[in-house]
Amino acid sequence: MIHCEGLVKIFKTEDLEVVALQGLNLNVQQGEMMAIIGNSGSGKSTLLNILGGLDRPSAGQVNVGGWDLLKIRDDQLVEYKRNTVGFVWQNNARNLLPYLSALENVEMPMLLTGKLDRAYAKQLLEWVGLKDRMHNKLHQLSGGEQQRVAIAISLSNRPKMLLADEPTGSVDTATSDQIMNIFRQVNREIGITIVIVTHDLALAGKVDRVVAIRDGLTSTEFVKRNPNLDLASIDSGAGALQEVHEAFVVVDRVGRLQVPKEYLEAVGIDGRASMEFEGDKIIITAPKTLEGENTNES
Ligand SMILES: Nc1ncnc2c1ncn2[C@@H]1O[C@H](COP(=O)(O)OP(=O)(O)OP(=O)(O)O)[C@@H](O)[C@H]1O
Ligand SMILES: [Mg+2]
Repeated sequence: MIHCEGLVKIFKTEDLEVVALQGLNLNVQQGEMMAIIGNSGSGKSTLLNILGGLDRPSAGQVNVGGWDLLKIRDDQLVEYKRNTVGFVWQNNARNLLPYLSALENVEMPMLLTGKLDRAYAKQLLEWVGLKDRMHNKLHQLSGGEQQRVAIAISLSNRPKMLLADEPTGSVDTATSDQIMNIFRQVNREIGITIVIVTHDLALAGKVDRVVAIRDGLTSTEFVKRNPNLDLASIDSGAGALQEVHEAFVVVDRVGRLQVPKEYLEAVGIDGRASMEFEGDKIIITAPKTLEGENTNES
């Protein structure tokens, strides 16, 4: 569904260039439900906005559902956004129409594309647990309920892929659990590919695969050890992710990998390292000869 290779995004402002993505690789299978984690500023939203067609990549490859997002024309991009992707943000209230009912809100994008399907709109509201509230006006619903309406809206045009940027960022734990369960359910029901950006490792524990982004690069991947494991009982915190997922460092096609800064600092590697191949291991250590030392002899 998603193939990114060497994806680069540079933001240019008047006197500054920010490299938000610096050659990111990512593959996501059709029907997969996965999460992206990473520190603030690591490039998560930048990636999601590119995948959602809201922003243009600067260089590299990015293909989604058969579309080449680097070469796509503006008119094709409109079609792409309408038919291929659904988007859920942390705070969706701004995209909802407060004086229309939940049902009317879900039907609105259908009307805009001329494909009104009331039965499906109702089905979506049922999936998000709002069957009994569908005729309420938006402003009569709580923030968490509005967020669930937003999820129903994001699915109204039957997209192939759902992108969610911190979808549980402004709701309580119970609601965020409920939202994750909704994602899981629609993922199962309609086989839609789902990519969720989150800070919350407990939520990340509820998907099959987690990709960590560091400084605009995919650095680590966590893959669930036993896909049939029920994670409902797992506690929150980083431990949860480690316990149920196996961690891998990502190595790209030309052999590059990213070593966490803390590791490098801990063993005193700065700019250059020694590498030894030992049977079934590769050992990376600080250079045997310290830089600046013995320079006259060598
Ligand atoms: N429109 C923009 N113009 C200039 N720089 C930007 C723009 N959007 C993002 N950036 C920069 O790109 C980098 C990545 O930002 P991004 O929003 O993708 O981070 P993030 O991982 O989503 O962070 P957070 O967890 O805080 O949401 C940051 O350094 C940010 O300042
Ligand atoms: Mg962000």
